[in-house]
Amino acid sequence: MTADSPARSDAADLRIGDRQLELPLVHGTEGDDALDISKLRSETGLITLDPGYGNTGAATSAITFLDGENGVLRYRGYPIEQLAERSTFLEVAYLLIWGELPTREQLDGFVTEVTHHTLIREEMRHFFDSFPADAHPMAVLASGVVGMSNFYPDSQNIFDPDAVEITINRLIAKLPTLAAWSFKKAIGQPYVYPRNDLGYSANLLHMMFAVPSERYEVDSRIAEALDLLLILHADHEQNASTSTVRLVGSTHANLYASISAGISALWGPLHGGANEAVINTLERIVADGGDVQRWVDKAKDPNDTFRLAGFGHRVYKNFDPRATIIKAAAERVLAATGADDALFDVAQRLEEVALNDDYFVSRKLYPNVDFYSGLIYRAIGFPKNMFTNCFAIGRLPGWIAQWKEMIESKETKIGRPRQVYIGPATREYTPIEQR
Ligand code: CMC
Repeated sequence: MTADSPARSDAADLRIGDRQLELPLVHGTEGDDALDISKLRSETGLITLDPGYGNTGAATSAITFLDGENGVLRYRGYPIEQLAERSTFLEVAYLLIWGELPTREQLDGFVTEVTHHTLIREEMRHFFDSFPADAHPMAVLASGVVGMSNFYPDSQNIFDPDAVEITINRLIAKLPTLAAWSFKKAIGQPYVYPRNDLGYSANLLHMMFAVPSERYEVDSRIAEALDLLLILHADHEQNASTSTVRLVGSTHANLYASISAGISALWGPLHGGANEAVINTLERIVADGGDVQRWVDKAKDPNDTFRLAGFGHRVYKNFDPRATIIKAAAERVLAATGADDALFDVAQRLEEVALNDDYFVSRKLYPNVDFYSGLIYRAIGFPKNMFTNCFAIGRLPGWIAQWKEMIESKETKIGRPRQVYIGPATREYTPIEQR
């Protein structure tokens, strides 16, 4: 098999025995080119095999650009550093979903829409009652999101732009309410209703931490830090949860069902659940006397399944630009809250040891977005099992944008990977007495 340099050619030749097939090249804006193998099976009978999809492009997309070798992340062309510094989460959500930065009027309209859909249907209060007190908030969130499709049957009209728009606004508006109420249920406190005079992140803090018996003032520095975290999590192209949203959506399941599936995919500790796993690890190291090297050695031991949560990334092989921004934010939040920073100290030492260790250097394992985000959530007061809920709130606009792009694309087909079967060849059924 030979392939000309993608930058110079529009096709590559594939040779199988004495057969030759020309595979078209698809050119990305930033030189991220691909071989189009969509005719491979019909023309050769062969499929490609790529467990974990490390080499498989599932879509062309105009939403997020990521260059893992150089630590670059852009939403709709805008560098993450600029958006993190200058934008708000709802502005970024608008950008991701609708493709352009909004005008003042567009932004005001969007914020108003989202703000006025934050209440969840009152019947849903009973929904929270049906879970045990120690239910994981991710399970409650995923169930709550798919449950909402019962209240909004218009969400079935996935090709009706008006129905899609109202579904999008409802989802963005209500996810923080669902998340906060799952927490209130777990700690046995009354559910706190949203306040329309507060910004998006401030409102989440209010619903999480206010109680009816006391006045609760949102600290604007904390609300800003939370907004920043949501921006940094807002999209990350074809990661596991986004691919899940696309796959479920490709069956024409409604948006609530697709997002609920994405939330479930995010829950795993190799994905969004890593922020919770990081704090668990840091706590174990502190409890263990702070011997960072021992835990680094444990992570390196091929006979030990332990991995340093918050390190490594499938795509970033240099640094994760989000981690750089988050580390600085963690310092600011810890200073603002005066939170005990024993874990932050350990995290910094862990980073230093790992970054100078040949095991991590040679495998290009750097701190990722989850390494410091948990420290911020913790300093704000979120319990560990709520961290991934916060990630889900941040990732929601990205999931929606990717779902919308897929539904609107003429190229979209139901997602249906193939396999190479390696089980038994055909055999006769054996009656149970003879087995
Ligand atoms: N600690 C110790 N060793 C590691 C780690 C780690 N965190 N990550 C990867 N490795 C090793 C791995 O054992 C393998 O070594 P070897 O070549 O000797 O077999 C090598 O590095 C390559 O790892 P991989 O598992 O083939 O890489 P991957 O691209 O399949 O996995 C990853 C990426 C993120 C799942 C993985 O790095 C990991 O498990 N990290 C910890 C969990 C984590 O922080 N996840 C959050 C990712 S960022 C946010 C998000 O996606 O939500």
